[in-house]
Amino acid sequence: MKLGRLNHIGVATPSIADSIVFYRDVMGATTIHEPFALPEQGVKVCFVDTPGADGALTGTQIELVEPLPGNTSIAGFLEKNPAGGQHHMCYEVPDIHAAKAAFEAMGKRVLGEPRIGAHGTPIFFLHPKDMGGVLTEIMETPKGDH
Ligand code: CO
Repeated sequence: MKLGRLNHIGVATPSIADSIVFYRDVMGATTIHEPFALPEQGVKVCFVDTPGADGALTGTQIELVEPLPGNTSIAGFLEKNPAGGQHHMCYEVPDIHAAKAAFEAMGKRVLGEPRIGAHGTPIFFLHPKDMGGVLTEIMETPKGDH
């Protein structure tokens, strides 16, 4: 396993619209991307940039996640955390299949097969009980990004 950049922190929210106001007005975010639906994953997402150290928009993002009707996992999280909250962390790796094999060799439970995530590159999730209590998303670094 080769750890790469912390790509984003997933934050579940009952309302992306309300969260956008929070990140803009309270946190001072200046680059908030257009929300979009990922119907096959039952969610609507919205990325908020946190600027890189040089002021460039190369930093880690916040991924706001709102359940679509029929979603069970995020909806269940919001039942326990009605105001929303930190949901998962996503790390980049150079090779998604190598990472999956490495985690499985260490006995970590991979939740489903790699699939195309919100950034258009393959992702998978790891069971939080195998990951120190953190629902962990592994994402292949977009080609040409670095
Ligand atoms: Co994510």
